[in-house]
This record gives sequence, structure tokens and C-alpha cells, in this order.
Amino acid sequence: MTAPGPLDESALKELIAGELAAVRDRSLGLTTGALDEAELTAQVSPLMSPLVWDLAHVGNYEELWLLRAAAGIEPMRPEIDDLYDAFEHPRSERPTLPLLAPGEARAYIATVRSKVLDALDSVRFDPANPLTSGGFVYGMVVQHEHMHDETMLATHQLRTGAPALLDPPAAPPDGPVAAAAAGEVPIPAGPFEMGTSDDPWAYDNERPHHLVDLPAYYIDAEPVTNAAYIAFMEAGGYDDPSCWHPKGWEWRNASGKRAPAFWSRDGGGAWLRRRFGRVEPVPAAEPVQHVCWYEADAYARWAGKRLPTEAEWEKAARWDPVAGRSRRFPWGDAYEPGRANLGQVLHRPAAAGSFAAGASAYGVCRMLGDVWEWTSSDFHGYPGFRSFPYKEYSEVFFGPDHKVLRGGSWATHPLAVRGTFRNWDYPIRRQIFTGFRCARSAEGAA
Ligand code: AVJ
Ligand code: FE
Repeated sequence: MTAPGPLDESALKELIAGELAAVRDRSLGLTTGALDEAELTAQVSPLMSPLVWDLAHVGNYEELWLLRAAAGIEPMRPEIDDLYDAFEHPRSERPTLPLLAPGEARAYIATVRSKVLDALDSVRFDPANPLTSGGFVYGMVVQHEHMHDETMLATHQLRTGAPALLDPPAAPPDGPVAAAAAGEVPIPAGPFEMGTSDDPWAYDNERPHHLVDLPAYYIDAEPVTNAAYIAFMEAGGYDDPSCWHPKGWEWRNASGKRAPAFWSRDGGGAWLRRRFGRVEPVPAAEPVQHVCWYEADAYARWAGKRLPTEAEWEKAARWDPVAGRSRRFPWGDAYEPGRANLGQVLHRPAAAGSFAAGASAYGVCRMLGDVWEWTSSDFHGYPGFRSFPYKEYSEVFFGPDHKVLRGGSWATHPLAVRGTFRNWDYPIRRQIFTGFRCARSAEGAA
């Protein structure tokens, strides 16, 4: 259940059918159970779609790519394409559309799926056709549905009521606060291989592979913890304009925010957080979550550091200086459960010191899983970038408006993240499962 390696076509098709089934179980699990029709069609926040939009959208995307594009099958319901085209209607407008009702949406996506499985046998994975070579377009659709599942989790997190479909939280881990002082790892100057040209399910924005030469730097061994972030808050970090990017200071003033999203104080002043409708103490040793880029940037300045560039993040995560090559995951080329907090198992980030077996060759910990990590980089195409298979996945988002996030979160499925994977969002966004780690240039580095 990882990179489709050198499998023959029938083994690859079996893997694809299994992953299509697994992701559908996940999507249905996030939209059924205790949720009634009103909860599925309501707009929890203007930042998010109604859950029933995500559900039908993943089926419509699957119809477009796996039935029409890959198998040449006529449109089933061309009249609904517009409703589920993310570029036709912004999220805030989606609840006003004549969307399929939950039952209709489930029936539509089930019909699409059964046609996809029927057609899978006869579709050829021709190496000369980049759409189907290596099962690419199937991998794209599986990853797309997992991404929307993570988006649906962010919608659930925004709800004030507890969705009964998410397990009650485990006892808050009260890990050692001392772990907040987690050290830095030195990364020597030199070139590394960034991106990929041969990962069959990688997106266009991860390609092509190219050498990047970096000066020496230090990067935090762990993501910044809640305890460390509280130290920034208690030191007056939110009130010191010298810590903030000018636009971050504007955001701070206009938003009134003085703590991560979903945080509040109890009567005694201790910090609490709301997690899937339940209020609990903020666990000191977990990575801070639900901070925007401006907050991450301000913390880093306060700490005398900065956010890593995405190249610095990727070198620390993937480069094996002994072998002289980049790995697919921090620990090696194959996904292995237990090495990262991925896949919606914990429903939260894990305490500092967890998942030590997931360290990179340089010994940098938990680069995959737990929280998406803000980088200092704007989202751009790599040298030689070519849009594929459609420019609305990546290319239309290139430019200074979006910051790159790396590494996936506890809510990201292992098939939908890897060392080369690039996510992006606006620097004010906090509803996603996002934290950060810091870096700094080594002495004498340019
Ligand atoms: C890659 C997570 C930024 O959710 O907007 C979903 C993925 N593209 N449907 C997003 C995506 C089309 C995208 N992100
Ligand atoms: Fe989508």
C-alpha cells in the first residue's frame, strides 16, 4: 500500500481496486453514522464546503478522469458537472447550489465506482500514455479522494458539536515539557536531489527531479510544541510587532487572534483546546496545530530563527548523504506503518519523541505526519515544470499568494503524501492541520 513499484499490470490493478475501496470506506465513514441530513448539507464555515458537496465532488472527479478520460465512457450526468467544479463555485457559494441530497450523492458515487471497476479490466496501462502509465490517473483519483477526506475532517473540526463518528479522545498525553527544548540538527552545505521524475503517482508540481545546492543550515529536530508556543505567547510574542511580517501584523490586528485556532482558557488561566467538539487541556508536548503562516513566521523570529525553505525541508527529510541519493520517505523508500503519525489513526498529533523510527538520514524527526509544516517558500513550478494532466491542479495556484506546506498531518493518508509532496494554502489559513518547525542559517553561511 505504497508507491506502486514495478508491479505487473494485473497486480497494479488489484492494488488500485483495493485502494479505491479503502478510500471510499473512509469517505463514507466521514459522512454517515450519526450525521443527519442537515449536518451533511449545512455550511459549517464559509471556508468549507458542505460535506455532501465533497462527497459528490469526489465521485464527479472520478467520473471525469476514470470513466470519461481513461475509459472513453460517455458522461453519466453532464448537467451536474458544473455544480461540482471547484472553479465554477467558491466554497462559500456551494450551500446555495441545487446539490444532490446525501442519498442521491451516495447513489451517484456508487454507480460511478461500479462502472470504474467494470472498465478497469479493459483499460490498458500503456507506458506511452502518460495518463494511464503506471496507473497514474487512478493514483490521482485515489489521492484526490483522500485529500477531500482530510478536508472533511477540517470541516468536522470547525463544528462546535462533537461528531459521534470520531472516537472520544485518548487521555491527553502529558509528555515532558523539557522536550519543548528539542534541539536542532546541522545539515552540511551541498547539493541534493529535489523532486522526482520517476515516482509514478507523483503530481506535476513534484516534477522534474533537479539538483539544488544549499548552504549549511540547522533545522529543528521536531516540530514546535504547544509548550514552546505558549512560551512565545507568554513572552508577549503576539504584541511585539518586531516579531511579525508586516502583513502578519495586519492579520494580527484585523483578526484579533492571540492564540492558535480552537484554543481558550479555563478559569485558572490554563490553555484548553476544542478538538472535534470536545474541550481538553492543551497537551504540552504535542506539536502546535492550527496556526497560520504568519503565526509560524512570528514564532520563528521570536526564537531567533526563521521558517525553512521548502528545499531545506526536503533535503533534511529525504537526502541520504552516505548513499548520495534522496529517499521517498524520511526512513527509506517504502511506506511502513509505525514510522509516522499518518492516516487518521490518532485524530491528533503525537507527543514529541514519538515515532522515533521515522527519523530521516540526518536524524530529523517526524517530518511526515502529525502536522503539515509551513515553509517560507511561495508555491512555484520547478525548473522544467510541465502542467499535467490539468493546469487547475497546480499551475493556477503558482505565485506569491500561496505558501508551501510539507509532510502531511495525522489526517493525511500515506498514499497522499511522500517526501516530495507539496501542499499549499494562503498564509492566513488555520483550519487545516498545520504546525511548523524552524531553521536557521549556519554561521558563515550566506
Ligand atoms: C492540494 C490540498 C491544496 O484541497 O485544494 C482537491 C487538493 N485539488 N481537489 C485542495 C485538491 C482538487 C488541493 N490541495
Ligand atoms: Fe477536489
